[in-house]
Amino acid sequence: MVEPIRMTSREDRERALREAGYNTFLLRSEDVYIDLLTDSGTSAMSDRQWAGMMLGDEAYAGSVNFYHLEAAVREHYSYKYIVPTHQGRGAEHLISRAVIKPGQFVPGNMYFTTTRLHQELAGATFVDVIIDEAHDPASPHPFKGNVDPAKLDALIKRVGADNIAYLSLAATVNMAGGQPVSMANVRELRKLCDRHGLRMYLDATRAVENAFFIQEREEGYQAKSIKAILFELCSYTDGAWMSAKKDSLVNIGGWLAVNDAELFEQLGNLAVIYEGLHTYGGMAGRDMEALAIGITESVQDDYIRARIGQVRYLGELLMEWGIPIVQPIGGHAIFLDARAFYPQVTQDEFPAQTLAAELYRDSGVRSMERGNVSAGRDPATGKHRYPRLELTRLTIPRRVYTQAHMDVVAEAVKAVWDARKSTRGLKMVFEPKYLRFFQARFEPL
Ligand SMILES: Cc1ncc(COP(=O)(O)O)c(C=O)c1O
Repeated sequence: MVEPIRMTSREDRERALREAGYNTFLLRSEDVYIDLLTDSGTSAMSDRQWAGMMLGDEAYAGSVNFYHLEAAVREHYSYKYIVPTHQGRGAEHLISRAVIKPGQFVPGNMYFTTTRLHQELAGATFVDVIIDEAHDPASPHPFKGNVDPAKLDALIKRVGADNIAYLSLAATVNMAGGQPVSMANVRELRKLCDRHGLRMYLDATRAVENAFFIQEREEGYQAKSIKAILFELCSYTDGAWMSAKKDSLVNIGGWLAVNDAELFEQLGNLAVIYEGLHTYGGMAGRDMEALAIGITESVQDDYIRARIGQVRYLGELLMEWGIPIVQPIGGHAIFLDARAFYPQVTQDEFPAQTLAAELYRDSGVRSMERGNVSAGRDPATGKHRYPRLELTRLTIPRRVYTQAHMDVVAEAVKAVWDARKSTRGLKMVFEPKYLRFFQARFEPL
């Protein structure tokens, strides 16, 4: 599918930015030139996927497309039982409700916005057990998504295994810059969980991209296919939730999968209340078909090399020009280090939000904030969480843009970098209660 893009004047963008309260989530897409807001649901579908859309079986129950999806998840992600959901957060909601008892703790390798919120709404406290290197944008560690087993062990000793709902493991870690976990780490975590009778559930949203990094960097995996690595990675975990809008190359959809038959019954029952019948979970039959096909396309070695290669192309250009980004370059996006852009802007003045606004104003390129605004407030104290990372994310949609678009983006970032010294921060003038980064509004200081 080819879509037109529209060039805008600086005047147009000034107006659009003001109307959007300096929040790139509130811009109209028609006012955007190159859209790197997210890789979620923004992929171009293939000819095979569009053909699959014509084979939608829109029966309310037992659609043939559900069984294709179920087979694809079993074959590629290893799990036995699958509940489709409308997208990732639908799956996060169901698993959190089903397995968290109020007052429990959920350790994980860095928070993700919607994941942590559903864990908190179910009564849990999230505890970050990622390795320290993940919080340092300049650390070259090859697996910055790894869990620190000593941190997990210390939590188990402190609160007791009975007070831990499960280990929440993300592959790759979005908020750390699209950073992978190693197979060795996941294997070690499996053993640790077994010793304490703990379950480990995977956020599989970008697990295919994680498999690419394992193939590239971990000893013994160079000759294995992405498909085999993905399967092995998932096989160490007890289940997974999935936002299929990323790795699986569809515009909408998700699923939840587990190996425990009793838990599956419970999840299927919750799905009926919150998502839709357990054989469609909020998706149309045609969407499930496109997803089943997207899963098979996502694990092709040549495709994933090209996809991550394009992200690297942009990142390497920026690095050549001395622009500070999170290293090593991750799977789905380039993360600009907003603190290094704007040392004069305090975290209360939202440097990463400021950078996203400046980039849009200057070029029409849309990015998003991943810093103090995204981290939100601590529910216990009501204070900003002040994460160490203040990042602005340039997220690359899959199979959409060309290398020439990446050149334009790099030049746009360079222009904002060159003007960095005179930039001032923002003041938050409207703050919604949940997931404030989506809808908050700002004014220039
Ligand atoms: C790592 C991760 N987990 C979960 C989600 C939630 O998925 P969705 O947006 O489909 O609800 C996302 C999406 O942004 C994500 O990046």
